[in-house]
Amino acid sequence: MALIRNHEFPYFFQVKHPLVSSKLSLLRNRDTEYKLFRELVHELTLLIAYEATQNLQLTLENIRTPMEMMQSPVLSGPAPVILPILRAGIGMVEAMLSLLPSAKVGHIGLFRNEKTLQPEGYYFKVPETSHQRPFYVCDPMLATGGSAIRAVDTLKENQVKDITVVCLLAAPEGLRAFFKQHPDVPVFSACLDRGLDEHGFIRPGLGDAGDRMFGTV
Ligand code: PRP
Repeated sequence: MALIRNHEFPYFFQVKHPLVSSKLSLLRNRDTEYKLFRELVHELTLLIAYEATQNLQLTLENIRTPMEMMQSPVLSGPAPVILPILRAGIGMVEAMLSLLPSAKVGHIGLFRNEKTLQPEGYYFKVPETSHQRPFYVCDPMLATGGSAIRAVDTLKENQVKDITVVCLLAAPEGLRAFFKQHPDVPVFSACLDRGLDEHGFIRPGLGDAGDRMFGTV
């Protein structure tokens, strides 16, 4: 797998792989039904998370293979936290957990006010934040960036320092706003789309991920 770098956004990492591209095309297709849509969100999250977790700490442990003893790398450090932004981020949790089975799961509830496009918070519950755990903020869409900014603001207010955003689609306007506020937080995504329309929807985009995932269209 390779990462596409962007000169305007040094901390934005777009995962480049034929599986990511083809699954994303299916996800965008308006004829894709809910079940397949959810499966694709899961599979794409696995592929993006593979890259987004590249800085996890390792330590050497003694293990015995069937042939001999050896020192072999295992994950170390405090258990990571997966933080889905409700509600569409929920669709990414199982994939993250399958890669990080010891992870804990926090939740942050934010919805975009359709008139102001500003995020409104309604829920926040995370595991103990004093252990310097890595946090993975998960949301399929980074549109205006307001939700991701608010989520990271809230984590930083709670002394979280190691934060990564994992999304599937991002818009340049949203990344600009996000990195203005949080230049120290990397964002991993399957794609960087053309831009936002007058309603704050990503174009060409994939519609509203939450609605398509949960059938509330
Ligand atoms: C969508 C999406 C993101 C947010 C992105 O959620 O899932 O959370 O909008 O937009 P932003 O970058 O402009 O903040 P929405 O508010 O529609 O809530 P939902 O997940 O409950 O559908």
